[in-house]
Amino acid sequence: MAQTGAAKRFDWPLLVWRAAAWALGGVPLLLLGWHVLHAQLGPNPVEFLEHDAGDWSLRLLLATLAMTPLRRLTGRPEPLRVRRLLGLWAFFWVCLHFAIYLTFDLEWSPSALAADVVKRTYITIGFAAWLALVPLAITSTQGWQRRLKRRWATLHKLVYAAAVLGVLHYIWLVKADLREPLLYAGILAVLLGMRIPWRGILRGRPLPRRTT
Ligand code: HEM
Repeated sequence: MAQTGAAKRFDWPLLVWRAAAWALGGVPLLLLGWHVLHAQLGPNPVEFLEHDAGDWSLRLLLATLAMTPLRRLTGRPEPLRVRRLLGLWAFFWVCLHFAIYLTFDLEWSPSALAADVVKRTYITIGFAAWLALVPLAITSTQGWQRRLKRRWATLHKLVYAAAVLGVLHYIWLVKADLREPLLYAGILAVLLGMRIPWRGILRGRPLPRRTT
């Protein structure tokens, strides 16, 4: 049976990927809201909120970084088309994490923040990671992408720095059991390693220019 033009144009795979990206960023937020509404935050509610938001910040950053390798592995265009959405969700979660800390630990005192950034290494690293993500969120629109041209791709390499700093932040703050932060570190190493053109390097070829 012949398909109508509208039916042919409807991009079902992209819809599925978009729905998955929204679910990955949004469902944990709904769950967190549920826990808050039902007062199910355990004996230390601030720690619960801070840690949950920190965990999802890192997971979404890694999910964002997984899109380019997934595009190569599957040959499908959708991962690159949901990358920005995932990146914005990651930024949302980092801002939520930061806001929880500012509200409950520091009562929004700029001097207390400055003191913590100077004195506590894991806060310095986390803050640097947040700073690295701010210009990426601001310039995430197509307008900025057009305006910045090639510089846009260069600027957006900051996401690698943010992810490395995010993982270091976690490793630094954990006192005893390093298994979870090291798992994230391992995933990040694989995701970054997959971006390196190993075959070309091993054969001594010059590195190709990246376009995505
Ligand atoms: C890309 C940025 C960031 C990422 C990926 C991130 C991630 C994380 C993770 C995974 C945790 C541990 C959660 C757990 O134990 O389950 C955490 C804890 C924490 N983070 Fe961040 N974070 C970031 C930025 C920040 C910033 C900007 C601040 C504040 C300036 C901050 C302050 C904290 C604090 C206070 C804790 C709890 C420490 C504790 O309980 O001892 N983080 N973060």
